[in-house]
Amino acid sequence: MHSLDFLQEKINTSFDLREDSYFNRAFLREPNELYEPIAYAMSQGGKRIRPLLTLMGADLFQGDLDKALYPAHGVEILHNFTLLHDDIMDLSPLRRGEETVYKKFGTNAAILSGDTMFALAFKYILEEEFVSMSSPLEVISIMNTLNTASIEICQGQAMDMAFEKREDVSIEEYIEMIRLKTAVLLAAALKMGAISSGAKKEDIDNLYSFGENIGLAFQLQDDILDCWSNLEDFGKVTGTDIADNKKTFLYLKALERANPSQKEELLNYFSSHSFDRMEKEMAVKKIYEDLNIRSIAKEKMQEYHDNAMKSLEKIEIDILRKANLIKFAEMLMVRNK
Ligand code: IPE
Ligand code: IPE
Ligand code: MG
Ligand code: MG
Ligand code: MG
Repeated sequence: MHSLDFLQEKINTSFDLREDSYFNRAFLREPNELYEPIAYAMSQGGKRIRPLLTLMGADLFQGDLDKALYPAHGVEILHNFTLLHDDIMDLSPLRRGEETVYKKFGTNAAILSGDTMFALAFKYILEEEFVSMSSPLEVISIMNTLNTASIEICQGQAMDMAFEKREDVSIEEYIEMIRLKTAVLLAAALKMGAISSGAKKEDIDNLYSFGENIGLAFQLQDDILDCWSNLEDFGKVTGTDIADNKKTFLYLKALERANPSQKEELLNYFSSHSFDRMEKEMAVKKIYEDLNIRSIAKEKMQEYHDNAMKSLEKIEIDILRKANLIKFAEMLMVRNK
């Protein structure tokens, strides 16, 4: 078994933008208008948690880490594709502390470079070297895992946008939306690693369920940070969810607990985009704070974390081998970026 630091280092090295690295051959190309935004996004880094999950999924079943790097690259480029388009949809100016791709290169460039990244993601899995190391069934199953996740992400994103305009979103619907837009990709990342290591079906299913649950906690934390973090730590402009009328857990829980006047205020603020941004943000946050929403959201995260641990327990493998995943899930609970 490898240490978490070792796996993280392996990911970081493999994403290094050296000209000779196989990973970068794909986007140091012409036309520049298409590939420069891709290289820009990929070189910004980000936490790279999804490829790390793929390596952890492989390592759990004593798989070949160099082999698992192929789906690891695929999942990270797919994730970055979703961000290019998400930032257009959410009108987000900054990500990872820098201008978003659509702000820097224009919306059309971000759409087209995003489309290319979506296709490139699958190219890593179809690399000759990876295919020659894998059984046909493994390749198909990994392709299918990433493909299914891609469709589900789009479903989740469509729900996210539709909810901006709806007043009657339930917490259950919200959870399903974040399961689709965020959690399934974390789960798929782990699953691809496990498949590449020849794990058995029940273990793969339990690992997937672990991933979904940490993914739900992950998006809840993203919503919390959008509200209570700051640009310096988070790398994104905060308060965007409130400005965009996003029906987050924070908002829906607040509505549920609000007294009639707070409820009216919330409904009013979330029915329009024409309020002064700072005034709206301060007023909404005041209500969230009066209603103790942050600690309720934290409790909900803990619930998903506990579910994740239950799924992990079911995997029929020595508990010592699970140490990295346990530690990683803990780290996600307290992340600040
Ligand atoms: C951002 O994902 C999008 C969400 C699902 C919340 P990350 O927080 O993993 O973004 P990076 O890749 O580290 O920037
Ligand atoms: C991200 O949700 C989901 C996807 C990118 C698929 P958000 O819109 O909350 O992500 P951030 O906060 O912009 O990273
Ligand atoms: Mg979004
Ligand atoms: Mg967004
Ligand atoms: Mg967010």
